[in-house]
Amino acid sequence: MASLTVRQLDDRLKKLLRLRAARHGRSMEDEIRVILKAAADDAGRDGLDRDEPPARAARQRASSVVAEQKRVLLIIGGGIAAYKSLDLIRRLQDRGFAVRVILTAAAQHFVTPLAAGALAGERAFTDLFDPQSEFDVGHIRLARDADLIVVAPATADLMAKMAAGLADDLASAVLLATGKPMLLAPAMNPQMFAAKATQRNLARLTADGVQLIGPNAGEMAERSEAGLGRMAEPLEIAAAADALLRGAGVLAGMRFLVTSGPTAEPLDPVRVLANRSSGKQGHAIAAAAAAAGAEVVLVSGPVNLPDPPGVEVVHIETARQMLAAVEKALPADVAVFAAAVADWRPQEASQNKIKKHGKPPSIALVENPDILSTIAHRKSGRPKLVVGFAAETDNVIANAKAKLLKKGCDWILANDVSPATGIMGGDANTIHLVTAAGVEDWPPQSKDAVAHALVERIAVALKDGTT
Ligand code: C5P
Repeated sequence: MASLTVRQLDDRLKKLLRLRAARHGRSMEDEIRVILKAAADDAGRDGLDRDEPPARAARQRASSVVAEQKRVLLIIGGGIAAYKSLDLIRRLQDRGFAVRVILTAAAQHFVTPLAAGALAGERAFTDLFDPQSEFDVGHIRLARDADLIVVAPATADLMAKMAAGLADDLASAVLLATGKPMLLAPAMNPQMFAAKATQRNLARLTADGVQLIGPNAGEMAERSEAGLGRMAEPLEIAAAADALLRGAGVLAGMRFLVTSGPTAEPLDPVRVLANRSSGKQGHAIAAAAAAAGAEVVLVSGPVNLPDPPGVEVVHIETARQMLAAVEKALPADVAVFAAAVADWRPQEASQNKIKKHGKPPSIALVENPDILSTIAHRKSGRPKLVVGFAAETDNVIANAKAKLLKKGCDWILANDVSPATGIMGGDANTIHLVTAAGVEDWPPQSKDAVAHALVERIAVALKDGTT
């Protein structure tokens, strides 16, 4: 019943559902169940619309160029290295991928579908002829829904089946039914790996376009056995998967630099001058650029946010540290300055805690470097596109236009941060994009949606040469 429902949806709904399911780490069918349950619990409201209309609007706009969350189908073969594949699920998720898992019958002697499913966030698939799997997803859909198929460990037996085109279980049927890129992490005893039959199969598979990672040389599970045959480490496999998937993103080959969060300027060892910036917008931009295939360096002040997956994060505290980290991260194709940098810092930070006796101290302030302006005015090594933010409480557009000229940047994202808007620290944002060509008014939307819309706009501008 559920599979009929998914197939009958129109393409737009299917896409919406896929995005929502990926965001929640559920299968599309499970997502439908959640939506139906919500609708039944609360009849009369549209469960699909209710959650996140702003994000939906932006995703639809962004759909032409921005990469959606990439999906990896991990096939776990039957070898002792299978235990490492449980860690691989996490390492792939760390890079922002949705992971779905198939276990071969042999793999289930080493790890359980329950463990793999718990880590993946949806049940693991095991059986070609399981009516539940076929009605829910089906082996053809399993093959097609993925952006990349990773086989780890790829055993000698599984590779032999692939090379011969056999399809007598779920894993081999999916591998035969897919047109998607495949990454194999071979793992076996060194003699099995060196065997002529294995080498023949490997040569055929690589000629067919399959990518390999490893095997590495080292100790085997069996005592006193060593040689070429250890499965590549989960981090290496995740990095190889990342490289393959990024190759397909619209910002592949681009290097982004993003600043985010507040700066904290020390007054003494325990006190700082800081501001209310949450870093949500800058972090969302870094994550969206990475998801679209860019190599991203995020220079962040102190925030209560996790590092975005697939992004190199440099943590700093002060404006001067931020400038140094930004200069070190150059060259970049695009730089987005979303940090709320303190304009001033205490002239001197006291070595010891300032004591409370007598008169309150007067604090002399000095100006901090303007990081955006410094980078935008560079004679050499200036990024092709320099984007700044203008948080204004009045005359938003006029002030943003003046800032564009003064700071020397290419684009300004202007927003009204007067307290009534709730933008500072909140989840939503209303942006006016000010460029040399004019002003674009964007609808109110979540900071995530703004990030995707900006990345889409940047991808188009880089492609058309209209930065
Ligand atoms: O001058 P104002 O602070 O309004 O400018 C905001 C823009 O300039 C933001 O993009 C912010 O990241 C950047 N900026 C900066 N260094 C500063 C002050 C602001 O990069 N010292």
